[in-house]
Amino acid sequence: MDATTGSAVRTSGLVRQFRTGTERLTAIDDVSLEIAPGSVVALTGPSGSGKSTLLHMIGAIEQADQGTVTVDDVEVTALRRAALARYRQRVGFVFQRYHLLPALTVLDNVIAPVLPLRGRGDHAARARELLDAVGLAGRERALPAQLSGGQQQRVAIARALMGAPRLLLADEPTGNLDSTTGGQILDLLLDLRDRHGMTILLATHERAIAARCDRLIRLNDGRVVEDLDLTEGEDPADTYDRATRLRL
Ligand SMILES: Nc1ncnc2c1ncn2[C@@H]1O[C@H](COP(=O)(O)OP(=O)(O)OP(=O)(O)O)[C@@H](O)[C@H]1O
Ligand SMILES: [Mg+2]
Repeated sequence: MDATTGSAVRTSGLVRQFRTGTERLTAIDDVSLEIAPGSVVALTGPSGSGKSTLLHMIGAIEQADQGTVTVDDVEVTALRRAALARYRQRVGFVFQRYHLLPALTVLDNVIAPVLPLRGRGDHAARARELLDAVGLAGRERALPAQLSGGQQQRVAIARALMGAPRLLLADEPTGNLDSTTGGQILDLLLDLRDRHGMTILLATHERAIAARCDRLIRLNDGRVVEDLDLTEGEDPADTYDRATRLRL
């Protein structure tokens, strides 16, 4: 893809409904967005507003009932089977609860998602590089339970990077961490964007995290109710002020 033009992610008229008993709940209600390549976008909104559902739809974990998702000019909502599987391999996912496999070492957790693709040996060198990049060199043989929450999230980020994603989707990546550790995880994500031009969409409840992103999109009842460019005319030194002003 051309990293300087167009949108990395485009959603158009996206709708997702869930049936709960006899009720039909609209989790995502006509969401149309354009996300610029290399931007870091905070997705905020109250619990149940649709943040996770939207991330899942963009990552093709969840299907759309209506509308389209286009990523790097490929219409994801039109992909079938093999192409869809390939697409999912190219998107990095990070979750609030890390989802590491407790019986596997740190190194094997990072390798696990790409293991079906080729032999373990092919991937170990890359996994080591990624663990180094997230500040975990030397901890390759540890088990997840031997690491702090922040360290476990770093392993999850390294794992998400194995497929060299252009797009990283993070669902409350700092939600289980104290504010200092959460800030460090965001430092890491911003650094990955700076170095690799990755586009990052992250759901968060935390003002201090959202305030450091390029853009804030707020959902309520599945609709976009606020869309703020946080880079425009702002001195980066004002981040703290901005954090205190943002309504989440
Ligand atoms: N698999 C499902 N079946 C039924 N309803 C669902 C399902 N997944 C999500 N929902 C509903 O869709 C709405 C949006 O949920 P979603 O998880 O996207 O919210 P969220 O903004 O991520 O919330 P939180 O901040 O608590 O993580 C909620 O009302 C939720 O109950
Ligand atoms: Mg959620």
